[in-house]
Amino acid sequence: MKINDLLFKLPSAASSVPTPRFINLRESESSELQTGSIASELTQGLTAQSAALSPKFFYNTLGSKLFEAITVLDEYYPTRTEAGIFQAASTQIASALAQTGLNDPCLIDLGAGNCAKALALMPVITPRQYVPVDISADFLRDAAGQVQNSFPALDIVGVGMDFSAGLRLPDEVQLHDRVYFYPGSSLGNFQPAQALAFLRNIADKAQGKARGLLLGIDLVKDTATLEAAYDDALGVTAAFNKNLLRNVNELLAADFDVRQWKHVAVFNAEHSRIEMHLEALSDLRVTWPGHSRHFVAGERIHTESSYKYTVESMTDLLKQAGFSQVRHWTDPQQWFAVFWAAA
Ligand code: AVI
Repeated sequence: MKINDLLFKLPSAASSVPTPRFINLRESESSELQTGSIASELTQGLTAQSAALSPKFFYNTLGSKLFEAITVLDEYYPTRTEAGIFQAASTQIASALAQTGLNDPCLIDLGAGNCAKALALMPVITPRQYVPVDISADFLRDAAGQVQNSFPALDIVGVGMDFSAGLRLPDEVQLHDRVYFYPGSSLGNFQPAQALAFLRNIADKAQGKARGLLLGIDLVKDTATLEAAYDDALGVTAAFNKNLLRNVNELLAADFDVRQWKHVAVFNAEHSRIEMHLEALSDLRVTWPGHSRHFVAGERIHTESSYKYTVESMTDLLKQAGFSQVRHWTDPQQWFAVFWAAA
């Protein structure tokens, strides 16, 4: 299907725009809470000697909105730099995809959020089916509806899912000609070993019948630029980080007082990663059903690692994962790179 077919099949009345199919594989957050899987994961993280929580807990509805705000901050260069690469290299990216023999592709948008990045790529990929996947199911459902308004003839299957532990897509997703789209350097939020396992899973043709992966990844650069991107002057990233505590209060019935915590973002050169932490401003105690933890002033909860790669280290990782052909495009400052890895 060509982009014009999609664009010009506009409805005469808004009511004739179909509602996209939506499959919530999280079942519901409340049932996950009832089975206790979220509660035990959070309790384990909070009671560990060095407390740590998964960055997936940033993304409740407010967290997703705060992340959207981060992407337009002056300091947060990744989003606009990646968009610039997609724009500048769109013809080359389209021809790399065409060389892979893709026909009527299915665009699987991992961590789709507001779907804005995929929307910009629609003319390049011209998918037959669009599958946005995100942990923030309600936020995604709205975003998928907006994509359907712009592309009424596009087959959309939204999937609410936490794919951090593995990606298993529902049967409604076409098996052939899949383009996995993982932009925004989200792969950088995995530990390198987890990132490799995740990439292997996508590269495994027998299981996933993948045709390829379009990946955006942030590159190593000077520490000041990196740290400013994660500690902006307006304090939006600080709010995003602290909102995790509000989410934990809600999920775990905990009593974190957000005002007692400070946002910290530092580049750890040894591990080539930005680390975000929340630091206790004074001695304090946090309680939740059946548990409590004392934090001394200055003690931290590690909330996110954002690994930064080089073009060489990411190319190696993709090849190690089993992709046979790897191409990349970057911006003039070499701050960010987009990779096309064919399985
Ligand atoms: C989603 N992820 C790629 C972002 C990043 O840059 O690691 C999350 C983020 N954390 C703070 N600012 C943005």
